[in-house]
Amino acid sequence: MGKNFDPERDIGSLEGKIVLVTGGNAGLGKQTVAYLSSHKPERIYLAARTASKARDAIADIRSTVPNACEIVHLPLDLSSFSSVAEAAATFKARESRLDILINNAGIMACPYDTTKEGYEIQLGTNHMGHALLTRLLLPTMLDTAKHPGADVRIITLSSTGHYITVPGGMSFDQQGLEQEKTWRRYGNSKLANLLYARELAVRYPQITSVSLHPGVILTDLFQSMRTNVFLKIGMWMYGIIGLVLPGHYKTPKGGALNSTWCATTRKEDLVNGAWYKPVGVLNGGSKWARDEGLQKKLWEWTETELEKHGY
Ligand SMILES: NC(=O)c1ccc[n+]([C@@H]2O[C@H](COP(=O)([O-])OP(=O)(O)OC[C@H]3O[C@@H](n4cnc5c(N)ncnc54)[C@H](OP(=O)(O)O)[C@@H]3O)[C@@H](O)[C@H]2O)c1
Repeated sequence: MGKNFDPERDIGSLEGKIVLVTGGNAGLGKQTVAYLSSHKPERIYLAARTASKARDAIADIRSTVPNACEIVHLPLDLSSFSSVAEAAATFKARESRLDILINNAGIMACPYDTTKEGYEIQLGTNHMGHALLTRLLLPTMLDTAKHPGADVRIITLSSTGHYITVPGGMSFDQQGLEQEKTWRRYGNSKLANLLYARELAVRYPQITSVSLHPGVILTDLFQSMRTNVFLKIGMWMYGIIGLVLPGHYKTPKGGALNSTWCATTRKEDLVNGAWYKPVGVLNGGSKWARDEGLQKKLWEWTETELEKHGY
């Protein structure tokens, strides 16, 4: 059974905290920003690749949350390392602390493509972009963790989709991934999110790093499925009957609860490195999610790739 979490009632004061949410212009990210914004953090950086969408999202949050804190658009395209590096540099030029990083942005079930640096588009966007962003912001987060009473968190959006990954758990062969079905490539990227979050907790225990499945919510994430008539009908039927299932939500208001809980619940409530189902339910995940060898392999492969590109 999930926790009975009401952001209005249960989020304590976030006074003085600096928050960064990727993909904050839509879906779960936007709702997460909205939930956090009324609890007095110093500032929230809404990281998004399209300025007009970010502006609209900020205006919309302001209209629904009259006491919202300052919300700043941070330009970020996770499919380009130079854009990620620029976003991190912009952030660091303005802030000396970062309390909560929510690696939320994501894409799902896209046709095979590659990012600027040649990574399969889902692994490249969902994992590599966030891994670089996290690595570049880590010094700021580690400094923040030294402050008395600090509580620094990295919250990563994974998915139950990690169960349907490629054979063997993860594939690092970017061209070979073209042979895999798009859902397996999504699973590959979401398993990477989960394992990377676990290894962050091992390497930086002074920071709390957890990952999560937010539930199932028909956001823009399902866009690619809407182009297939059968899947479209399936989604229409799901809209009628699926919502009675546990962990299925009608709107991002429900879908953002688990991220928001992970970002704001008492630190003692969280197990560092864990994966949570909605809301706040500790879960071991798939057998691959519990494979420490694969976890280390992903970390080392990611480090090598970032180094290759000069990071
Ligand atoms: N919805 C679900 O049922 C579900 C289930 C399991 C896990 N999740 C996970 O939850 C997270 C949020 O999903 P959502 O449902 O809120 O999806 P969404 O409504 O499609 O929002 C995704 C966000 O990611 C951003 N994004 C995509 N590619 C990007 C890039 N290259 N650079 C920067 N931002 C990028 C999007 O920006 P644009 O608007 O510019 O495209 C958007 O803000 C994802 O990581 C997803 O895998 C969702």
